Amino acid sequence: MNLADSRRGQHPDVSTPVEIRSERPDDIAAIREVHDRAFGGDQEGKIVDAIRSNGAALLSLVAVLNRHVVGHILYTPASIGTVTGAALAPMSVSPDCQRRGIGSRLVEAGNDRLKREGCPFVIVVGHPAFYPRFGFRPASAYDVTCEWNVPDDVFLMLVLDDVRSQGVSGRAKYRDEFSTAAQSEIGKEP
Ligand SMILES: CC(C)(COP(=O)(O)OP(=O)(O)OC[C@H]1O[C@@H](n2cnc3c(N)ncnc32)[C@H](O)[C@@H]1OP(=O)(O)O)[C@@H](O)C(=O)NCCC(=O)NCCS
Repeated sequence: MNLADSRRGQHPDVSTPVEIRSERPDDIAAIREVHDRAFGGDQEGKIVDAIRSNGAALLSLVAVLNRHVVGHILYTPASIGTVTGAALAPMSVSPDCQRRGIGSRLVEAGNDRLKREGCPFVIVVGHPAFYPRFGFRPASAYDVTCEWNVPDDVFLMLVLDDVRSQGVSGRAKYRDEFSTAAQSEIGKEP
């Protein structure tokens, strides 16, 4: 099975264990391709590249199946008031490998690593049916709001360290690369 086969819609052999590991320099093109295919556009891949160029990634993990990168998750610093935690975004799994637990493995591995490293919280704008299974709750429950105008049920927060997150409330601020990418998308010719 190679990537060309997977693009033709055949499924990679998922009986092979999926490896979750840190991003390496030779993963960059494959990470871009996973995001472009999963999101059906290049905005998320561009954000990943901009964050990487600026040395701003907190944690970048890939899921590898049969030596191919089939999933990616990125965490960047995000602040709420004076406390800095992590924002989970973007993350995606190749369309032909979705709904087989790979995305869940990425979230679990990433959150575990950040917890061990003392990160106080993780925020995410994402599917309300997916993220609560990892402990995320609507951020509004903590009086935390998003800097963008998103529905309440898609802006979620996971507290990893109760003590360091105590009393944290207010507007969560992402890295500027996210807003810059959204603005350039809005400015595009139709
Ligand atoms: C969301 C995504 C990363 C999940 O990865 P995955 O490997 O399919 O996830 P898992 O197999 O571990 O878990 C499956 C769960 O993902 C969620 N999910 C998968 N595809 C989804 C979709 N198109 N829309 C909404 N939720 C979806 C569901 O909650 C699903 O649970 P279910 O099978 O019980 O219904 C993947 O579907 C993807 O890349 N989607 C496109 C890009 C995207 O939306 N990224 C996330 C932005 S928040």
